[in-house]
Amino acid sequence: MIRLNEHFAKLKASYLFADIAKRVNAYVAANPDKPVIRLGIGDVTEPLPPVCIAALHAATDEMAQRATFKGYGPEQGYAFLREAIAQHDFQALGAKIDADEVFVSDGSKCDVANIQEIFAHDVRLAIPDPVYPVYVDTNVMAGRTGVNRDGRYEGILYLESTAANGYVPAPPAEAADLIYLCFPNNPTGAVATRAQLTAWVEYARRHGAIILYDAAYESYIRTPGIPRSIYEIEGARDVAIEFRSYSKLAGFTGLRCAYTVIPKSLKARDAAGQEHAVHALWNRRHTTKFNGVSYPVQKAAAAVYTAEGQRQTRALTDFYLGNAKLIREAMTKLGLACIGGDNAPYIWINTGRDSWEFFDLLLNRAQVVTTPGAGFGKCGEGHVRISAFNSRENVINALARIAAALK
Ligand code: MLT
Repeated sequence: MIRLNEHFAKLKASYLFADIAKRVNAYVAANPDKPVIRLGIGDVTEPLPPVCIAALHAATDEMAQRATFKGYGPEQGYAFLREAIAQHDFQALGAKIDADEVFVSDGSKCDVANIQEIFAHDVRLAIPDPVYPVYVDTNVMAGRTGVNRDGRYEGILYLESTAANGYVPAPPAEAADLIYLCFPNNPTGAVATRAQLTAWVEYARRHGAIILYDAAYESYIRTPGIPRSIYEIEGARDVAIEFRSYSKLAGFTGLRCAYTVIPKSLKARDAAGQEHAVHALWNRRHTTKFNGVSYPVQKAAAAVYTAEGQRQTRALTDFYLGNAKLIREAMTKLGLACIGGDNAPYIWINTGRDSWEFFDLLLNRAQVVTTPGAGFGKCGEGHVRISAFNSRENVINALARIAAALK
């Protein structure tokens, strides 16, 4: 019989959100008369902004005519979108990013999962705890870790994010090669200051490391002075890759569009010590394994950068932040310590109990789905994450149910 990739056997049986969905589906099947409210996975609920809908319709009409029909597009994305991204998301912040350093894709999850392919097997990993599980699991699949002992994989340098450091880990004393950072953070909702990101960029430059910077929640930043991009930090072009997404910015979780920025000055070396541009390697990988995002979807993404698109997406993220504020206030009133929700759509709650037990309690007594903190790592134990992605009505109902359940 054929042998499998044994590293897959080191993984927990199922992906965190698949595991939760299984438990919730079992509950719903057993209790059809008890409707659940889902504040677990960060999936948006509000319709697409009207500018995106209009762009989708117009692009569909173009696809209906021989003269304007489009077949395969450029794998890296159409110039109209890459130029809008470079200009609005980076150059407007003073960050030197060119359109041809942007790779448009169908999701940040895939990009952040796939990027590790172009680095050596024995690079030293530094990954926060708690963390979006994709960073860890994809490195386990690739064979970069040992086995999981007591909730942690051998071979990973875990960057603990706790109340003691304000949920923003400082660079460690040890050297690491590949560092995952996510701000605004999933799951804690914490943001990093300019000084904190500068310390990471300086660390990466000192050690010849690369930072994988997941900025999927950048559009939720409201506190003035908090960097929106790692490229706002001097020297980051030489040491960082940034991931962005339209999912939480413009409700694209079902439409699928994101992008990754790889500056041309970012280098990695081969076993013989020769330097290679990571941009060229990713371009090679992207053109081999990916055939581009559909034209109508890229048109919808580009519509986000119009004046009306900026207004509509701001209203959308403000709406979810309004939910987040209600959640944080309600949890605080219940005497639970929490962070997040002010610059992120997630509220990270210290429950003081086993996190899966608390998850079960809220599901069984309040019919509210949350995400148990332990699913994000050892430091997540004792916590749950509540997502602000739902209608106002559902959020208000969920908070009333949670308050009643915890009485
Ligand atoms: C989450 O709930 O953490 C996110 O929605 C997952 C994702 O974006 O893939």
